[in-house]
Amino acid sequence: RIWLISGISALILFLTILGFGAFYLGTHPQSHGVIIDPGNIEANEAFQTENLGLTKVDDDKYIVNIVATAFNYDLGVDDEGKPVKNIKIPKGATVLFQVVTPDVVHGFNIAGTNVNMMVEPGFISSIETEMNQAGEFTLLCNEYCGVGHHMMFATVEVY
Ligand code: CUA
Repeated sequence: RIWLISGISALILFLTILGFGAFYLGTHPQSHGVIIDPGNIEANEAFQTENLGLTKVDDDKYIVNIVATAFNYDLGVDDEGKPVKNIKIPKGATVLFQVVTPDVVHGFNIAGTNVNMMVEPGFISSIETEMNQAGEFTLLCNEYCGVGHHMMFATVEVY
């Protein structure tokens, strides 16, 4: 009986903490909760084809806009019209990553850095970080999104 009471009490405690976080603090798996129409992500200027990928906005300040789809990270196209699969960022730069998806939940993890987000249809996921460590990092999807999940990656080079 004591175990039953302590078990149920622990459950109530956990649900209270969860409820407090979700409803009172407004904690959401999505960063910042900026809403976007998943059926029309191009309505947002940042995600129009010509604005995808890396953009320098100031000295040592960059924005990277990305559309994650099954099973690709759209980082725009290069001068030859080929899809960009590698972005190069100078060491020490501040980078704002903004990611959306029109289809299913994807992950956005730059392995070896603190960049790790969930990308959910209907929201803009964003994280600003300082790239202080030189090297080549793999950007990968860490949420299972379908048969091509393992093919969903790109590289980020910090030089
Ligand atoms: Cu996208 Cu897994």
